[in-house]
Amino acid sequence: MCGIVGYTGIQNAAPVLLEGLRKLEYRGYDSAGMAVVQDGRIAVSKVTGRIAGLVEKTEDGRLLPGTTGVGHTRWATHGAPTEPNAHPHTSNDGRFAVVHNGIIENYMELREELTRKGYHFESETDTEVVVHLVEMYYKGNLKQAVMRTSARLQGSYALGIVCADEPGKIFAVREASPLILGIGIGENYFASDVTALVAYTRNAIYLEDGEFAELTPDGIQVYDCAGRPIQKKISRITWDIQAAEKGGYDHFMLKEIMEQPRAVKATMAPRIKGSDIVLDDVDIDLKQINKIVITACGSAYYAGCAAKYAIEKLCRIPVLTELASELRYSDPLIDGHTLLIVLSQSGETADTIAAMRECKSRGAKTLAVVNVVGSTIAKTADWCLYTWAGPEIAVATTKGYTTQLTVLYLFALYAARKLETIDDAAYRKLLTSLKALPKLLQQALDMNPNITQLAKKYHCAYSMFFIGRNTDYAVALEGALKMKEISYIHAESYAAGELKHGTIALIHEGQPVIALCCNDSITEKTMSNIVEVKARGAEVLAVAFKDNQKIVSLADDMIFIPKVNTLFSAAVEIVPLQILAYHVAKENGCDIDKPKNLAKSVTVE
Ligand code: AGP
Repeated sequence: MCGIVGYTGIQNAAPVLLEGLRKLEYRGYDSAGMAVVQDGRIAVSKVTGRIAGLVEKTEDGRLLPGTTGVGHTRWATHGAPTEPNAHPHTSNDGRFAVVHNGIIENYMELREELTRKGYHFESETDTEVVVHLVEMYYKGNLKQAVMRTSARLQGSYALGIVCADEPGKIFAVREASPLILGIGIGENYFASDVTALVAYTRNAIYLEDGEFAELTPDGIQVYDCAGRPIQKKISRITWDIQAAEKGGYDHFMLKEIMEQPRAVKATMAPRIKGSDIVLDDVDIDLKQINKIVITACGSAYYAGCAAKYAIEKLCRIPVLTELASELRYSDPLIDGHTLLIVLSQSGETADTIAAMRECKSRGAKTLAVVNVVGSTIAKTADWCLYTWAGPEIAVATTKGYTTQLTVLYLFALYAARKLETIDDAAYRKLLTSLKALPKLLQQALDMNPNITQLAKKYHCAYSMFFIGRNTDYAVALEGALKMKEISYIHAESYAAGELKHGTIALIHEGQPVIALCCNDSITEKTMSNIVEVKARGAEVLAVAFKDNQKIVSLADDMIFIPKVNTLFSAAVEIVPLQILAYHVAKENGCDIDKPKNLAKSVTVE
């Protein structure tokens, strides 16, 4: 849950590392540090807080001269975000420095062993055992020391290791944590993701679990876990530099909200050929599938909850949605007739990976819907459909969610046609509705200039309720999550029909209730719930289609969306709720792109 970066070459390393860390800061931002090899020693600088503090402390890197180094931005797991706990960690003799993303699960026993052998620990982290092991095993050959160290570690780790005695050299190790090597001319790099590399190179090598690499200015050699050299494919990075910049917006979140029409189009258009939906290399024998299980965490899970309705309705196959953190420990009823759909923007979420592996071991066929190319989930699944959303930097996902929905809608329609559960006319009609999504998303962005005003009205709320039924309920789940994670306002989502089974006791004078009413078949029912909460003093902000005059007369405030087929409405309906959460958070002076206590990618259980 951290970002790591490394550079060896001809320039001073520190400015390159700082630039890379800025791009990786979304992965964790409670402390940061760099280690640079200079004149036969290792110089380290660390700060608590953001990368900006490290930039200041090192005077833009000038105080750390040297052409080889590693950097880290942290999301604390073991030990508070203090300077001693910040990475890089150094060996007792000061000859080695290590940065780490992941968790060393057996660190307690290693720490006891190393303490008994006389190694002194300066931090509370799990990572520090790594650097002491490297020191212990170093007999003049860093590669051997790295291999012996890796063999002792259990858990997930991407490591960057430098040694004062082998200047110009970095070892990068990967086990169940992302690590990408960047190939330059006379300089080479590694990083936790491509956003940190794209300003320098478009040629990358994706390390696999168990592999490690030796980087020098002149080249990169990748080894398997036994230390045998292996040839790796060089991949082209397609994301451009602008995609990883704010491009004039105040926040990445706003930029990414605005990018949604384009991202949805990029995800959908290449997969629609005439009247056919072509899903990359997916060749699932759908007739053998009797159950679909969708698993994911957070917003990705809520995308699954929303798409479940479309898949069930069109394919007539039962769809269960399961939180990955629950599924993995639930002794799931999964077999070779189950299709497991795994959703993940990052492709690195630890619980999602574990749930997928558990289900695979029980015979499930696995289809991943992932944004980050080459990520663990993408590689582990039997089939992968990428969401071509481009890099998502804001911790709160927006285009990640809508592009996941897009892929699932495509899948629903594709599968229904294969299974012959809809006729040709219905298929064509739905395909037309689906193709309209980018345009409808753009309208949803444009048609509510009043949201900034609504944010001024609602930003002081102590809590909010999001209610809806069916697909509207699924959107309520995501709407409430957006609100709480960036504005820090308590927000609860409820199936509207459940209110009177307990929760309505919490409704009082002035209590904001966001009522989602975009599912025609059931809007009348939700309107009754609006009447009920209004009778108890609630302030109702309704989200509805433009032509729904009845709701206008009931609600205190309105947000409109364009008319969209109910099966696909979640993708459009969420847009104004993202914007509302954004402006409420802005009113409250919150750090929108980097909310407190969070990180973009949750690579620990
Ligand atoms: C959403 O805004 C969150 N940041 C979070 O819930 C996220 O969706 C979840 O952690 C899953 O991440 P993934 O899509 O990368 O697996």
